[in-house]
Amino acid sequence: MTELSPRIAVYPGSFDPITLGHLNVIERASRLFDRLIIGVGMNIGKQAMFCPEERLHLIREAVVHVENVEIRHFTGLLVDFVRDCGAKVLVRGVRPITDIPAELTMMMANRRLAQDVETLFMIADGELAHVSSSLIKQIAPLAGREELSPFLPDHVIDAVQAKLNSSPDDPVHTELE
Ligand code: PNS
Repeated sequence: MTELSPRIAVYPGSFDPITLGHLNVIERASRLFDRLIIGVGMNIGKQAMFCPEERLHLIREAVVHVENVEIRHFTGLLVDFVRDCGAKVLVRGVRPITDIPAELTMMMANRRLAQDVETLFMIADGELAHVSSSLIKQIAPLAGREELSPFLPDHVIDAVQAKLNSSPDDPVHTELE
């Protein structure tokens, strides 16, 4: 009898910071695979609020209840990371309408780079479908705990508020810190 290889998927993103939308996708995607590797990567098009170590820490705390996830940081090409993880599937959480053109472009670029890697699109449930870290970064300076609670886990609200209150004159962290 041949042994089946474990089904591994990678869920990449900036996670700056992790939202309840990300968490919804993680919980659901983790049920589809033996192992789900959360890849914290670098999006050169976005200004970061948290450094990679902080993001990993926030994710780790958010997913303690999900047994088969692993969290890793990656710096190179996403498809190389997917292959290094021994995976053939990458999961992208997409928001309906707004994300589709960019996500299709990214999917086709990744497909061109690695034909053995498939992209699986998932949409977070209900109201969470429209949440994004970029939206959080826009509203967080103007919103209180109650306004942020539909979008972020409690410990992430703490971290965002601490970051915003820490030293407003400091430049935000860069991705490579
Ligand atoms: O959460 P994000 O910001 O949409 O995540 C984007 C991320 C980090 C997954 C993407 O920018 C990425 O894959 N970066 C690594 C470089 C790469 O492989 N780019 C090719 C995709 S077109």
